[in-house]
Amino acid sequence: MAHATMTFPPDFLWGTATSSYQVEGDNTNSDWYTWEAAGHIKGDLGAGRAADWWENAERDLDIAAEMGNNAHRLSLEWSRIEPEPSVFDEVAIARYRAILQGCHDRGLEPMVTLHHFSNPLWLVEKGDFNNDIVINYFRRYATKVATELGDLIPKWITINEPMTYCVMRYLTGEFPKPSRLGFGGLFEAIHNLLRCHVAAYHAIKEIHPEALIGTANNIQIFEPRPGGNIIDRWWANLVRRIYNDSWQDALHTGRYRGLVGSKFFEGLAGTYDFVGVNYYTRFYVRFPPPPGFVERDWGPDAVVSDGDYGEVYARGLFKVIDHVWKRYRKPIYITENGVPDAADRLRPSFLLDHLRQVWYAINFCYPVMGYYHWSLVDNFEWDRGWTQRFGLIAIDPQTQERTWRPSARLYREICQSYSLNDEMAQHYAPGMLPVMWPGDLPGSSEPRTL
Ligand code: BGC
Repeated sequence: MAHATMTFPPDFLWGTATSSYQVEGDNTNSDWYTWEAAGHIKGDLGAGRAADWWENAERDLDIAAEMGNNAHRLSLEWSRIEPEPSVFDEVAIARYRAILQGCHDRGLEPMVTLHHFSNPLWLVEKGDFNNDIVINYFRRYATKVATELGDLIPKWITINEPMTYCVMRYLTGEFPKPSRLGFGGLFEAIHNLLRCHVAAYHAIKEIHPEALIGTANNIQIFEPRPGGNIIDRWWANLVRRIYNDSWQDALHTGRYRGLVGSKFFEGLAGTYDFVGVNYYTRFYVRFPPPPGFVERDWGPDAVVSDGDYGEVYARGLFKVIDHVWKRYRKPIYITENGVPDAADRLRPSFLLDHLRQVWYAINFCYPVMGYYHWSLVDNFEWDRGWTQRFGLIAIDPQTQERTWRPSARLYREICQSYSLNDEMAQHYAPGMLPVMWPGDLPGSSEPRTL
């Protein structure tokens, strides 16, 4: 019997998150498809059939339901819905309808992302976010989706991680090449992404005024490297302002503040009903920045995930929630949080520790309404191919065999009981017991010795 329990509200949303290109497979009309073919991906495996969702999403939705989830965040592939300009594929739309209905039938409330890093090839030929023609195209795409599928979509994300997307594409060159590389192209793209968001927000609300709409923001902890000087601190502040805050600030005030100057966008202020937070890690930064922008040296005590992806820093999630609430005063969803960990050596304690931060926040009246773990299943991890595994469920991409990692069983216990308790910690991550309950557990026969 559990001695100590941290209980979540009865209306809390327990989900996982995926994105279309990463799980569907064979998205041949996307810019990622040609980027992969040109050899820009780590490892020998491309997306291929990915997690086979185009044919078989239902197999994993069954697993999500079995895992006690009551929500799922997924994205739509624009290049499937509109494979050529102005040509909408009704078969693809019907398939998405079946997948969304499949979510509802299994008690999984869908949250749907319209743009998650992937573009139709025809749009890229026209210069995509470096050409303001994209705004009308995005409005039309959003209108089509709202008209055909909106009755099944209570929650929307217009754009996933606009800042990550632009940095990886326009500055570091890890994502498919844009028409204008560099800072000029980057800020032009951010402006056009903001205009796309505005267009989609109003288009969806016109058809479904009850829809809840936001964006999923990659918000990390950026700190000056230990022992850093005043310039490192200035740089950390600047990185936080631009990377973490500038996008959501613009949705709040209507004005985007870049590196120099600011720009007002008509109809933008207040175009969000909630803030989506994708939280993964803490980065140290220094000026001038090393190649790749962030330090890869976390210090001797840091717990670092596979492939040097990042430090496990759970307290950062609470800090981000606190920051976002004080800045925007809107409901918060943790739209992504996860760790690449093929052997599941970190994920059980990662889950307990991060969800403890969410529980703590809720108990101090921060309106965190739901948590979507990244990810339900292993999937195609963009430029890192299949070299990093984020799934609660392991997938062999060649055989499509699925295996429950221990953390999937832990997440099931959490979702089913709406709680974290000492029995779970004892079973899945005993090292977390003294972290989560530093005092002697009530009724425990073994008092802790110091
Ligand atoms: C992205 C996901 C990605 C995950 C793990 C997020 O930035 O939205 O698509 O797989 O991070 O790297």
